[in-house]
Amino acid sequence: MNASEYAIEVATEADLDAISEIDRASFTNPWTRDMFARELRQPQLARLYVIRAPGVRVAGFCVCWDVVREVHLNTLAIRPDLRRRGLGTLMLRHVLREAAERGARRATLDVRVSNDAALALYRALGFEIAATRGNYYSNPAEPAYILWHEHVERFLEPQGP
Ligand SMILES: CC(C)(COP(=O)(O)OP(=O)(O)OC[C@H]1O[C@@H](n2cnc3c(N)ncnc32)[C@H](O)[C@@H]1OP(=O)(O)O)[C@@H](O)C(=O)NCCC(=O)NCCS
Repeated sequence: MNASEYAIEVATEADLDAISEIDRASFTNPWTRDMFARELRQPQLARLYVIRAPGVRVAGFCVCWDVVREVHLNTLAIRPDLRRRGLGTLMLRHVLREAAERGARRATLDVRVSNDAALALYRALGFEIAATRGNYYSNPAEPAYILWHEHVERFLEPQGP
């Protein structure tokens, strides 16, 4: 993958339809468009990022929240036909580097226990399973793994973790 072909930016209102479409294609409990719009209206807390690819306005998105010295990764998805090309990795490295620049020390997220693709991605970047929460998700009901990354500052290094 040639990372220079991709750009990661904070989303605007004009991205919301494409974000919602990717979300619906990626999750059984998608957010509404208005939920994404709300993230844009609280920039002190939330960041909604998009990744742009050649000829593709929105190839994927990520929502994170700054919570004191932690960054909470609330959702992440890459367009189905553009997966497995390193875009999820590129997005997370960017989001975590910027969080570290804002002072985050730790990062956390939750993931369905059956989501092997996401788990592999998070573990490759240094996240570790800290807990399991039963019946966390619905449609279908499923437990969550709660993951933490204890060294977000490592994403400031040129090569990252
Ligand atoms: C999870 C997701 C964001 C990964 O995005 P991606 O752009 O495909 O990820 P990458 O190409 O950067 O993959 C990085 C690594 O993750 C692992 N991985 C990614 N997809 C995988 C899959 N389908 N099966 C197994 N491992 C996978 C691999 O180790 C991969 O490295 P490799 O391709 O060199 O083997 C994407 O699959 C997605 O949008 N899924 C639906 C939404 C979702 O589950 N989001 C996470 C919610 S917590």
